[in-house]
Amino acid sequence: MAVLIDGKKISQEIKDELKNKVAKLKEQGIEGALAVIQVGTDPASSVYVRNKKRACEYIGIRSESYELAEDTTEEELLALIDRLNHDDAINGILCQLPIPAHMDENKIIRAISPEKDVDGFHTQNVGALVVGQSGFVSCTPAGVIQLLKRSNIEIAGKNCVVVGRSNIVGKPMSLLMLQENATVTICHSKTADLKAMCKQADIIIVAIGKPKFITEEYVKEGAVVIDVGIHRNADGTLCGDVDFDQVMPHAAAITPVPGGVGPMTIAMLMNNCVASMTR
Ligand code: GUN
Repeated sequence: MAVLIDGKKISQEIKDELKNKVAKLKEQGIEGALAVIQVGTDPASSVYVRNKKRACEYIGIRSESYELAEDTTEEELLALIDRLNHDDAINGILCQLPIPAHMDENKIIRAISPEKDVDGFHTQNVGALVVGQSGFVSCTPAGVIQLLKRSNIEIAGKNCVVVGRSNIVGKPMSLLMLQENATVTICHSKTADLKAMCKQADIIIVAIGKPKFITEEYVKEGAVVIDVGIHRNADGTLCGDVDFDQVMPHAAAITPVPGGVGPMTIAMLMNNCVASMTR
């Protein structure tokens, strides 16, 4: 029977540590502010943005909201980002993705100053991660590392399979596990025998966006299973990319959905915001 990795509890610990840090920085006269940009009214994005602003309030940093209309032009968004880049009162800038299709997402991400890119999406920060230099790291994969470390799960020397190769999760996740001295395999939709690859994993991290895709046949007895996916079932409940009920009895440790990786993303965003105050 698997140990449940409690992302809710671990993210709360991190936020409380950050709250203390922010209070100490305040005593030294250092204050932080995060600019949160949302273009359009995608309901899921609105929930994420609201939770990010709440987390800022909790740890004691100011957040500024920029809610732009769906038909905002790329030039207008770039002008806002440029203004925020030059605003000394703003330490972090976050543009909630996805942005409307008439804008070039890469161009928008590149426009955010790497020093304020608390999402860790800018090519300069991604490049720093590749060569093991300091920079902002994408929040979800950074959160997974914290989940493993704070659950005392050994990473060095383990066979880690990352399923999914997105720029936000799969790729940075693989680099972080490599940095922690795991032997890393990245699998994706064209992987020849995904089941066989996954079955070799001591640690399997799944971020493919397919509900309950990873069943017990993919998981070695005693593996650690990290589920980055989140989906809504027909009955309104949530599930991940892993078939939790099937896999749980075979895993040594597993993240639930909800309450696993999800809450860690915002905790690590707050970690990046606090780091941005002292850079
Ligand atoms: N959309 C989905 N996840 C994220 C995230 O971590 N940051 C931003 N900015 N947008 C997202």
